[in-house]
Amino acid sequence: MEQVDIIIADESHFSYAHEICEVISDSAKVRGTGIAKRTPEYVQTKMQNRNAIIALSGDKFAGFCYIEVWGHEKYVAHSGLVVHPDYRNQGLAKKIKEFTFNHSLKKYPNSKVFGITTGLAVMKINSDLGYKPVTFSELTDDPKFWAGCKTCTNFDILTAKNHKMCLCTGMLYDPAITVKKKEKWFNKRVLKRLKNIKQTMLANNKQLLLWKK
Ligand SMILES: CC(C)(COP(=O)(O)OP(=O)(O)OC[C@H]1O[C@@H](n2cnc3c(N)ncnc32)[C@H](O)[C@@H]1OP(=O)(O)O)[C@@H](O)C(=O)NCCC(=O)NCCS
Repeated sequence: MEQVDIIIADESHFSYAHEICEVISDSAKVRGTGIAKRTPEYVQTKMQNRNAIIALSGDKFAGFCYIEVWGHEKYVAHSGLVVHPDYRNQGLAKKIKEFTFNHSLKKYPNSKVFGITTGLAVMKINSDLGYKPVTFSELTDDPKFWAGCKTCTNFDILTAKNHKMCLCTGMLYDPAITVKKKEKWFNKRVLKRLKNIKQTMLANNKQLLLWKK
C-alpha cells in the first residue's frame, strides 16, 4: 500500500470537497442504498471548523470522514466515511474512523458518539471501537440531524415509521459507560496488585518468624 497520511483537514483542503462529494454519491449509487447528500460547501465548513478528517496519498484523495455536533454537544456523529475505490480493503476506513473517533473524544469529551449505517464494514469498525447497536430512541432527537435523511432514498420508510426505525442501524458509544468500565478494570488490577503485595509480606513475615524460632 502507498503511504497514506490521515490528518485533520483545514482550508488548504477545500479543493478536495468536490471530489469527496462525488465519491460519496457514486459509491451510494453502486451500492444501491440511500445516503444523505452532502454539498461541497458543507464539506468545506467541516474543514474550516476542524471537524473533518482527510486521508491523502501525496496529493491524491484517499478517504474522508467528518464530525457533526447535535443537541448542544450532547451528541456527536461521525458521518460521510468514504474511502476512494483505489484504496479500499486495505484497512484505511478503520484507520480514518479511529483517527476521527480519537479527535472527537478529545474535542468533545462529554458527548455521546453515534452513527447510523446500512454498511457492514462501518458496523464492524464501530463495534471494534466500542459502539453498541441501539434503537433510534437512544440517538439525538435534533430535527436537523434527521432532516439530513431527506435526500436518502429510504426517507419514506423513516417517515412512515415516525422516525422510530429505518433500514439503517443506530450505533452508540457512551464515554461515561466506557469510563466506568475502565475504572472497574483499574480497580481490579489495583486489588490484584495489593493482594500480591500482602501475600509477599505475609510470606516474608512467616520466614522471619521461622528464623526467629
Ligand atoms: C465502506 C468503506 C468505507 C470501507 O472502506 P475500506 O477501507 O475498504 O474498509 P477497511 O479495509 O478498513 O475494512 C474494515 C472492515 O470492514 C470490512 N469490510 C470492508 N468492506 C466491506 C464490505 N463491502 N462489506 C463487508 N465488510 C467489509 C473489512 O473486512 C474489515 O473487517 P475486519 O476488521 O473484520 O477485517 C468503503 O468501501 C467505502 O467508501 N464505501 C462507500 C461509502 C460507504 O459505504 N460508506 C459508509 C457509509 S455508512
